[in-house]
Amino acid sequence: MTGGPDGPSGPASSDRGTRAAPHAAEADLPPQDDAGASGPALRCVNVVHVYGAAGAGVVALRGIDLSVAAGEMVAVVGSSGAGKSTLLWLLAGLIRPTAGRLFVHGRALGDLSSGDLASLRARQVGVLLQNPARNLLPYGTALDNVLFAQRPTRRRPAVKSARSRALLDAVGLDAQRDRVAGALSGGEQQRLGLAMALANGPAVLLADEPTSQLDAASAARVVDLLQAARKDLGTTVLMVTHDEALAAQLDRAVTIRDGRIGAEARAGQDYVVIGRDGALHLPPEVLDVLPPGTLAEVRRTSDGIELRPAGQDGDKA
Ligand SMILES: Nc1ncnc2c1ncn2[C@@H]1O[C@H](COP(=O)(O)OP(=O)(O)OP(=O)(O)O)[C@@H](O)[C@H]1O
Ligand SMILES: [Mg+2]
Repeated sequence: MTGGPDGPSGPASSDRGTRAAPHAAEADLPPQDDAGASGPALRCVNVVHVYGAAGAGVVALRGIDLSVAAGEMVAVVGSSGAGKSTLLWLLAGLIRPTAGRLFVHGRALGDLSSGDLASLRARQVGVLLQNPARNLLPYGTALDNVLFAQRPTRRRPAVKSARSRALLDAVGLDAQRDRVAGALSGGEQQRLGLAMALANGPAVLLADEPTSQLDAASAARVVDLLQAARKDLGTTVLMVTHDEALAAQLDRAVTIRDGRIGAEARAGQDYVVIGRDGALHLPPEVLDVLPPGTLAEVRRTSDGIELRPAGQDGDKA
């Protein structure tokens, strides 16, 4: 069976397995590759993912190339079904790619066993899945859940308890501390999931639409919390979001289109990303000039290239 964001085998089992297996957290991981600690925190090289049987499968990702520096905060945007959650699941090691390579702090995920991946998630990679309920133990209280998330650590019980309370305060759930997680609202569950994902001070946080069920004030609080994690721990954040305002607050926003990173926005400037085969996605706002199917001419100029509909000679300076 192929698991995945929409699939029947939810991450709850894998993710929970991570947190439930302290022995795995203490296992030795294979050494890092030559990218080492000084390389990017996250790297995807031509990652392809197809769900289901070959020939009848759904192609979710067609060749993702992405590099995220340590301490960077990057938003992943794109229309529904673009493959955002698939990318997050792959980086979390919850599913394996059909082709391509993924690295977390220089470790090739393809070289790691499921136990190693569980250990990586427990120790270094906090994961917040899109469906808030999937991140939780529904019958435990909010406090139990954050304590549970810390099982892989060797902290003393008093330290775990103090940290749990501090995190619940930070996400605005101090009053819900003793409420059963399954009975919390969607937004409360989302915030609890974030507290759990941050519980072990991860080097990398992968968060799938962490603010989708929050009001503006709570969403702003989440961003503050992530900024604080970056400042205090150097946490790298990859956040899937549909919220443009939130995406604009991060260092950059990459857009998945047609299964690859087609565009990137940083510091208020939009860029297109040239694909491996030279393909580029024109931004929607110029499609009236060059609608799909247009025969276009590409000319080299002194400082770049020029693209214009065929048969239209431009002024040549
Ligand atoms: N387990 C699965 N089995 C088959 N197809 C799947 C599975 N999970 C996802 N897909 C398909 O893969 C594609 C990408 O899905 P994904 O969930 O990654 O998109 P997304 O960008 O996160 O969408 P949304 O914004 O709606 O959450 C979609 O066409 C989806 O239907
Ligand atoms: Mg999704």
